[in-house]
Amino acid sequence: MTKSTSFGRVLRPEFYLEDGYVPLNHGSFGACPQSIYSTYRHYQEESEKHPDRFLKREVFKDLEKNRDSLAALVQCNSQEVAFVVNASYGINSVLRSGFLKPGDKILCFSTAYNAVERTMVFLQDAHQSRLVTVELKYPMLDQEILDLTRQTIERELAKDPDVPIRIAVFDAISSVPAVRFPYEAMIKLVREYNILSLVDGAHAIGQIPLNLKEADPDFFVSNLHKWAFCPRGSAFLYVPERNQGLIHPSVINYAYQGEKTQNVAATFEAEFAWPGTVNFSSFLCINAALDFRKSLGGEEIIQKYCNDLARQGGKLVADSLGTEVLENCDKTLTVAMTNIRLPFENKRNLSEAKIISTIIDKCIYEHNTICSPYKHNDKWFVRLSAQVYNDLNDFEYFAKEIKQILKELDE
Ligand SMILES: Cc1ncc(COP(=O)(O)O)c(C=O)c1O
Repeated sequence: MTKSTSFGRVLRPEFYLEDGYVPLNHGSFGACPQSIYSTYRHYQEESEKHPDRFLKREVFKDLEKNRDSLAALVQCNSQEVAFVVNASYGINSVLRSGFLKPGDKILCFSTAYNAVERTMVFLQDAHQSRLVTVELKYPMLDQEILDLTRQTIERELAKDPDVPIRIAVFDAISSVPAVRFPYEAMIKLVREYNILSLVDGAHAIGQIPLNLKEADPDFFVSNLHKWAFCPRGSAFLYVPERNQGLIHPSVINYAYQGEKTQNVAATFEAEFAWPGTVNFSSFLCINAALDFRKSLGGEEIIQKYCNDLARQGGKLVADSLGTEVLENCDKTLTVAMTNIRLPFENKRNLSEAKIISTIIDKCIYEHNTICSPYKHNDKWFVRLSAQVYNDLNDFEYFAKEIKQILKELDE
């Protein structure tokens, strides 16, 4: 890869990241550029200067402007978008709204994010929902995932023709393994069976182009604080008008009308607009984030840089470790995160939790870098993220350090 002069380490001063730190885990918590953070601080100060003017009046028109820009970027109507503090909140709002009846089935995948999986287990315990899990063992082709899902649905229908699978919960890009999921085709597939789709797009906005009108999920949530560069505590929930009557936020506010209103969709916006008194400043940074992203060349250029770097950086690390990257033959899995198999034998028979925490500790405290280690399909991997502030030097550095860490783990 030709080293870009406008991306990579030269961009590091735009962020707060410490000198010498080699950050390769953008996927977990994001990182907010300094210019965007100054917008964040500006709004916090506005809220302190005159709390009532800001929180009772002014904040709403600025939220509106930011929501309009967001809706234009993800290609939907503003009225179909609600701000939520994070993906977990958005997913809980949908799943715990009460439209699932006792005994309803939820279709899910073994690669669901841990908190999302736990939310579904909670529904099983508290509301007698029944989970139908599709086991995914990567690398898989998109078509294999779709075929397996169809077989699972058909099997469930044959078993219990009277028990509906009410909703399917799946990722746009899963966390570990960090792979793009064929969510557009999956939305269509489950709709054939009258199953609602809830897409966990926590990693989506900023990492892949989104056209929600066209993809037409029943519910879609994405974090703004991961790949879109907004400060933490910002995400959005997309609910097309046809489904707005089905759901309520996890925190109920003054606007809830219950059974009293004819048109529950009418309260969707107001119910989500005021989640109690919170810090709204993160949501007010979308326009600043989009300006910053435009200054780097825009969505396409950013996404291409990150995608190319993830592929090339992943290969560099895998070659250095003598392993391979997790990818299928159609090369549809890798976006801006790469998954590299670790040549780790676990000679000391350490527990999975111990291995993960030791690698993370050693990365942070001894090697000044970071990755996400995990086990999938009986093999060990690390997830590395590629962001505009990374370049191949970071992957080269990581390859060297992880070898040392693995050696110590097996000693
Ligand atoms: C796929 C996926 N879903 C949901 C989440 C939860 O995001 P948050 O902690 O911002 O709620 C994450 C977090 O990394 C994730 O990777």
